[in-house]
Amino acid sequence: TWTMRSYVETAVEQIRQQVGTERVICALSGGVDSSVAAALTHRAVGDQLTCVFVDNGVLRTGERDQVEKTFASQMHLNMRILDRTSQFLTGLKNVTDPERKRKIIGRLFIKNFEVESKKLKGIKYLVQGTLYPDVIESVSFKGPSATIKTHHNVGGLPTRMKLKLVEPLRELFKDEVRVLGQELGLPDEIIWRQPFPGPGLAIRVLGAVTKERLAILRGAETIVDQEIRAAGLYREIWQAFAVLLPIRTVGVMGDQRTYEYVIAIRAVTSLDGMTADWAKIPNEVLGKMSSRIINEVKGVNRVVYDISSKPPSTIEWE
Ligand code: XMP
Repeated sequence: TWTMRSYVETAVEQIRQQVGTERVICALSGGVDSSVAAALTHRAVGDQLTCVFVDNGVLRTGERDQVEKTFASQMHLNMRILDRTSQFLTGLKNVTDPERKRKIIGRLFIKNFEVESKKLKGIKYLVQGTLYPDVIESVSFKGPSATIKTHHNVGGLPTRMKLKLVEPLRELFKDEVRVLGQELGLPDEIIWRQPFPGPGLAIRVLGAVTKERLAILRGAETIVDQEIRAAGLYREIWQAFAVLLPIRTVGVMGDQRTYEYVIAIRAVTSLDGMTADWAKIPNEVLGKMSSRIINEVKGVNRVVYDISSKPPSTIEWE
């Protein structure tokens, strides 16, 4: 729209004023907010911006490739893509407590980001995709989600690294950020991406995280995602995903008894993630997901659907 076009011009001018000729760094997750913030800053200061993407080994199928394709190949942003799969999986070995998983992943992320930014030399600014509701929430609300938000927005980084913040989305709501992203030419898959937690699949493999379990979960997650999109439900559902339960149950295949993992499907509608209803997905869609997961993903012989709302349940299982 015309309004958003003039907003881009103003924002670009502001970023140039603030940053001058200094170098800027950005922790890019591939989520809507960090992607739009990075694209806008790139429009303003071009090669002065470097984005760091850390592959923490608990991403979904194709996630890293999509970020690489969009930002490096198509938009020609300076991208540092760090493959830290084995480092994170080693750190997570035998860890079952959800909060410990979060701490380990958060700490390793910050460590990698710091090391990388030191290599780049003379970085003065950090771009963050802070939205207007985040600004309001961080001054008025100190509940459990304050911790979530801190982690999500790489809290602690700016002060530790003595970086000044560039927050070009501070005045915007989510729907405006999407329009802005469109104006900047970002693809729909990024603009409409459902939220995905910083600790990634580590909190969706319940209990100990292993390569084997991650591979099973990825297979199931891909099918849930495909079927939600095919049914035209992707945008109206807040989040839809698979969870791997660390137990095995009995099944039957041909004349053989099986003893394999259970996948839970979680899908919710929500406005902001603070409260949520379990999504009334049509039975045919659930049925298709179930039979596809059991037939196509080796190691799973049972699928269940989570019919709990938040509160008292949470959206994630850990
Ligand atoms: P819960 O499970 O608390 O989730 O109902 C609310 C929203 O927050 C996301 N979530 C996280 N995001 N780091 C994040 O960046 C986290 O540790 C984390 N835990 C939950 C969750 O996916 C949902 O959108």
